[in-house]
Amino acid sequence: MARITASVYTSHVPAIGAALDQGKAGDDYWQPLFRGYDYSKHWLAEQKPDVVFLVYNDHATAFSLDLIPTFALGTAARYAPADEGYGARPVPEVLGHPELAAHIAQSVIQDDFDLTLVNKMDVDHGLTVPLSLMCGQQDPKQGAWPFKVIPFAVNVVQYPAPSGRRCFQLGQAIRRAVESFDEDLNVQIWGTGGMSHQLQGPRAGLINREWDNAWLDQLIADPVACSQVPHIDYVREAGSEGIELVMWLIARGAMADVAGGPKPVVKHRFYHVPASNTAVGHLILENLRD
Ligand code: DHB
Ligand code: FE
Repeated sequence: MARITASVYTSHVPAIGAALDQGKAGDDYWQPLFRGYDYSKHWLAEQKPDVVFLVYNDHATAFSLDLIPTFALGTAARYAPADEGYGARPVPEVLGHPELAAHIAQSVIQDDFDLTLVNKMDVDHGLTVPLSLMCGQQDPKQGAWPFKVIPFAVNVVQYPAPSGRRCFQLGQAIRRAVESFDEDLNVQIWGTGGMSHQLQGPRAGLINREWDNAWLDQLIADPVACSQVPHIDYVREAGSEGIELVMWLIARGAMADVAGGPKPVVKHRFYHVPASNTAVGHLILENLRD
């Protein structure tokens, strides 16, 4: 049986990818940020997941305002890093897991969540920056990332975005789907994006350290209450792009305690400002093994 063993949460700023790709990770500005992921890289190398179910948002790269799926599940065998205007990032292509993705599609759609299925797409910084933060910079010539990835794109770019509550319920359905897959697989679920940031208008540059950390506390300790935070609170407190945080609730909803199991162990927590215009948050929660 496939098992969700852990969830990982991280922000996804494009300038982090550029810093890595241009050899600037050791600069005074970036070093404190990357240090926050040192533990995570070791932890991930020990955990050796077979598959990462990676919840992220596309930034009008693969999709556009012509077509806006709320929840889009990647069912392809491979995904190319996208060209977002400066050429594709020099990172390996992303290998998918079509069999597990097809099973999740069957289970989650029959569980009443109307997913869009994506058989072909490129993946932008929303997906590749979390991979780089957690795995370190990889040589694209060496092949692939160390595990298969099922991309799951959530619309948080064009209103209306899904509610935190809906995302949390979807996470529970994804857990049921993964744990009914008849093959021994170590699966992690990652929730990415956020934390507070606003890229536009008079409040551009907004950061809310206090609210971000209180939200993290609640995500860990009382995810049901956290899932009930309304959209307007994210926008008011965490800025217009702070709404990306609802994606973390998909990963949190897939943890064992939400289905009546034991509380997860907090393996790592990190918060850092500045990184471009965004407050970077990062968390690792591990399910207890039975
Ligand atoms: C920045 C953050 C994002 O989440 C994004 O998608 C683009 C830019 C930033 O902080 O610069
Ligand atoms: Fe973003």
